[in-house]
Amino acid sequence: MSARIIDGKAIAAARRERLAAEVATLGFRPGLAVILVGDDPASSVYVRNKQKAAVKAGFAGGTERLPAETSEAALLARIAALNADPEVDGILVQLPLPAHIRTQAVIEAIDPAKDVDGFHPINVGRLVTGQPSLVACTPKGVMTLLAEAGVPVPGARAIVLGRSTIVGRPVAALLTLADATVTLAHSRTRDLAAECRRAEIVIAAVGRPELVRGDWIAPGAAVIDVGINRRPDGTLTGDVAFGEASAHAGWITPVPGGVGPMTIATLLENTLSAARARRGKGARAA
Ligand code: GUN
Repeated sequence: MSARIIDGKAIAAARRERLAAEVATLGFRPGLAVILVGDDPASSVYVRNKQKAAVKAGFAGGTERLPAETSEAALLARIAALNADPEVDGILVQLPLPAHIRTQAVIEAIDPAKDVDGFHPINVGRLVTGQPSLVACTPKGVMTLLAEAGVPVPGARAIVLGRSTIVGRPVAALLTLADATVTLAHSRTRDLAAECRRAEIVIAAVGRPELVRGDWIAPGAAVIDVGINRRPDGTLTGDVAFGEASAHAGWITPVPGGVGPMTIATLLENTLSAARARRGKGARAA
């Protein structure tokens, strides 16, 4: 079997275009404020891409680049100002933060109604209890890719590799809400390969290059690769050995061009939802 490639880049581009058309009819520009503390090169690239996509979709706002030595108090004060700014619908503080700043304090300082990353405990709690919420962009993007590819989720056996708060845990919650039977595997899981072979949906989010081999994949399974790892030669690879896995899978996402572009499209969708909810232009989409 040769897998169908789930073209995240094309799916994200189409959704961004639809979103831009919708923004043009609103009568206001949704505002997205992005904060980058320090000059981590990978974070700089991610932030630049988010900002570019936001501008292209007709959003207002900008990126604030703060020096690495910015104090936690100064960052919290900046967030308080953005919380109070009626033109700002979404606030995103790029992670990771410098070690002297408590990440959780920053996440909890963001108004949950403007938390377009979906990291605030209020939004995480609402997600887990099945209430409408702002949902973390990468996990929500993964669900969009499954839906757009036509992968059957209800009743399917799904495995999520990796239990991070940004990806693994929320993806497991979303799959559970979508009626999959979910295994959340991690570094202490015994015989990961055997667990994986039972799954009809595999979500790999561990950050280990090509950990998932071809013979871990059940025939016809859907494989979503969240990993973005840099090889010594500078090229990118996922958490899945793509060539091997494509020979077994029914569907598979490439790296790059799979989950990554969906994360950005979903950030824009979340910002539009937050804007509509705050400005009373219709209910926030779940
Ligand atoms: N760093 C890596 N992924 C993310 C993300 O989705 N949001 C933020 N804010 N930082 C990140």
